[in-house]
Amino acid sequence: MKFFIDTANLSEIREAHEMGVLDGVTTNPSLMAKEGITGAENIRNHYKAICDIVENNVSAEVIATDFEGMMKEGRELAKIDDKIVVKVPMIKEGVKALKAFNAEGIRTNCTLVFNAGQAILAAKAGANYVSPFLGRLDDVSTDGVALIEQIVNIYDNYNFSTEVLAASIRHVMHLIQCAEVGADVATCPLAVITGLLKHPLTDIGLEKFLSDYHKGNK
Ligand code: E4P
Repeated sequence: MKFFIDTANLSEIREAHEMGVLDGVTTNPSLMAKEGITGAENIRNHYKAICDIVENNVSAEVIATDFEGMMKEGRELAKIDDKIVVKVPMIKEGVKALKAFNAEGIRTNCTLVFNAGQAILAAKAGANYVSPFLGRLDDVSTDGVALIEQIVNIYDNYNFSTEVLAASIRHVMHLIQCAEVGADVATCPLAVITGLLKHPLTDIGLEKFLSDYHKGNK
């Protein structure tokens, strides 16, 4: 299972990268705005700064919603660095763009996916990643993890090469459940990645080991 961090915050990306378990980064326009990154030039430079931290897989989202606009923007984003994956929304023009980017060898991540039909379309169009937003589904009383499992099963039936990127992960149990149902990737905030470390018995056990060592080695 790949771990992506879901943020545009450079210090959080560095911290996750330094743990040695990070496989990529996902951003979206809201996450860029949260960091105060505005204007085409600044946004471009920020993507480059993210690419300089991690080894691969930096999702950068297009703003255009028409086919020509998405293609123009996506080509520009892909030129920033080979690590860029162009993030395209699940709309009709987006499906056309996924297919066209695929033909040009530009990697894509189909975003804003909320059901299995949309995921089938993304795979048929040749998306490298599909991003079902499980937390936002849970927010509206729909089982987000069940959708991840459904998409994993459908892709397995047809050997689709599109990777299932579980997005909108809100807590550690989401991540573990995504691993259980076979998501290829989980993108989540830093707190979820570091949350995996935590168990009170680990802290108690370590404290005891160290105090016993120090008692015998005065
Ligand atoms: C990532 O690709 C998505 O944009 C992100 O996970 C959405 O998360 P949210 O629902 O917490 O905004």
